[in-house]
Amino acid sequence: MLRLSLLLLLLPYSTYSVLLGWVESPGYPMGYSPYASMNWSRCAPRGHTLSIRLIHLDLEETQNCENDAVKVFSNGSLVAVLCGKKEYKELQKTVNPPLLSSPGGCLTLLFHSDYSNTKRHTGFRGFYTVQDFDECQDDPNNECTQFCHNFIGGYHCSCRHGYYLAKNKHTCTVSCTEDLSGLKKGVISSPSWPGTYAENANCQYTLSVEEHLQLELHFSETFDVEQNNDSQCIDELTIETHPGTLGPFCGNKPPPSPLLTHSHHIQIRFMSDGFGSNKGFSLHFKTRGKVCRPVISNSIMTPQKPDYHRGQTVKVTCNVGYVANSGLLTQYETTCQSSGTWGPSYPCEIVDCGLPLIGDNSILQLVDSADQKTKYNDQIQFYCTSKYYKLEGNDTYTCNASGEWVSVDGKEGMPKCTEVCGMPEVDSSSSGRILGGKNAALGEIPWQLLIKEPKRGGATLINDQWAVTAAHVITGFEESTLKLFGGLVDGMSSSASVIYSEKIIIHPGYANNEEINFNNDIALIKFKSRVNLGPNLLPICLPESNRGLVENEQGTVSGWGATIENKRLKQSSRFLQYVHIPVMSLSSCRDTPTTSSNKKMIFTDNMFCAGETGKDSCPGDSGGPFVLPMLSSDEGPHYLIGIVSWGLPCKDRSYKGWYTKVENYIDWIQRTIEAEETQ
Ligand code: ARG
Repeated sequence: MLRLSLLLLLLPYSTYSVLLGWVESPGYPMGYSPYASMNWSRCAPRGHTLSIRLIHLDLEETQNCENDAVKVFSNGSLVAVLCGKKEYKELQKTVNPPLLSSPGGCLTLLFHSDYSNTKRHTGFRGFYTVQDFDECQDDPNNECTQFCHNFIGGYHCSCRHGYYLAKNKHTCTVSCTEDLSGLKKGVISSPSWPGTYAENANCQYTLSVEEHLQLELHFSETFDVEQNNDSQCIDELTIETHPGTLGPFCGNKPPPSPLLTHSHHIQIRFMSDGFGSNKGFSLHFKTRGKVCRPVISNSIMTPQKPDYHRGQTVKVTCNVGYVANSGLLTQYETTCQSSGTWGPSYPCEIVDCGLPLIGDNSILQLVDSADQKTKYNDQIQFYCTSKYYKLEGNDTYTCNASGEWVSVDGKEGMPKCTEVCGMPEVDSSSSGRILGGKNAALGEIPWQLLIKEPKRGGATLINDQWAVTAAHVITGFEESTLKLFGGLVDGMSSSASVIYSEKIIIHPGYANNEEINFNNDIALIKFKSRVNLGPNLLPICLPESNRGLVENEQGTVSGWGATIENKRLKQSSRFLQYVHIPVMSLSSCRDTPTTSSNKKMIFTDNMFCAGETGKDSCPGDSGGPFVLPMLSSDEGPHYLIGIVSWGLPCKDRSYKGWYTKVENYIDWIQRTIEAEETQ
């Protein structure tokens, strides 16, 4: 021991032997010359400080020492600026005390003189030394919680009887951790109970019994664990049980007794800080059989009780909007096991509707589809991406308890974007003459489609995937792919939309006996893909099935058929023509022509006729639309009332054409389309 302290004493002086001696101004004691300067610096080793004691100071005296001066820095910051002449006593009393470095820090002297000395000054002299820094006395930050011992170059901590020094070498703690596994009863108290408990305690008491038992704690009335004025725990007692952590407990009120832990394995922790004098706690523990508790969340147990005995079977009903076992169950039976748990035990989890399947139609979209919530009671909102569609019904859907999206008014299934029909964006303002017709502007009759082969005819767009035409235009062609042109008025235009048919459905009642009978002259064409609706390609509306027709109602018929300008009225027109014509009376419709083989053409209730002197549809117009109200009127929307079907050759100038009465086929059209779409 003696040898060790000798070594400790010698060590700093042998290593830092230069760290004591004199420091003087240049030329001392004869006096310094003008423009003299010096820069001196020394550092103290760890756990030491460096000091300078001036024994002599004689420099030129100026008010702020601006001529000659010695400046002293401790760790780079100025601690003194000295000049003039000072007595030894004064030096000792006021000048020397601050000339001290921090532990392990450095002192620097900067001296300079100027040229202006009238009288010679001797300068300064001081003795510098390192000395041990007493951390125990002078360092409020030394970390010993109990005893502190200074030695040269450092310090160490020690503890009172009953405490030991923790790993950090500063904190004194008590040993209070105990493993009481296997004990079915016993007592646990804070260290030194009933005396005041130790500072810096970190106690862990482990209790563990057989699985079917639970530990039961009884606290004694006296309970005193340090608490601040806001009732927050300074020291604390916590109990870790299987269902979760109880506490922290502190203050003067013991935890409720008996405290059932519902666990056969618990850990009691007690922690104190470095201050205070409180009594602590004491408890005794014992065991009792485990019970089951109604702990399955988001559900109700029947019968409802605070706890259940081993073997008891109950019914678990998940709350509305919650399901168990991956959505398979909303209700199940479960039995209390001896371990105090339920078997089986499925948590009731919130119903998740998932993102709705929108289908292939990209027109229908979800608002903010990226951050959708899809759980029970969450809402989503739909919209149509194109202005040529409108959302049918409600746009807001809610995830219901059965995991389905339902609209706010209770409808299941997804909403639909349906085409806005019968509303051209280009206004039709003037009337004109197909026979007696007028050129249509682009977008004026956006539902008009052109068929060039197998024979020239028209067709009408009724939604983004279907058109109607006359059966006689395409009969015999059902097995092939038809090519239709849309979004054009110039029949030779190369910028038209080309539409390919996927399926042609001729009305089953069409007799294919054009000679005398055009009854049911209607057919549906399904496209290979949906067309892109735009200002020049828009569908027409279908009328109500009982709309009825009024004599003299003015409608518009359109097509690329023959025109009056073509002398023999045989050639078709290059540009789309339209004409406004009135619906004719039933009696004049019944007045049908006879064919070349002397058979009278048959008029049925599935037809109407229309026309006016100089105005008629002609060969090549068949399959095209007759719409109401007529185009020039501002009233929209427009409805497809008739399909150009038959009449006398235009050169006969009878100005009377027969049209398929579309209102008779609404059911058939809807049924046929639905059947195709659900396939
Ligand atoms: N069947 C003719 C066609 O295929 C339509 C005839 C219309 N005739 C009339 N005078 N309205 O184009």
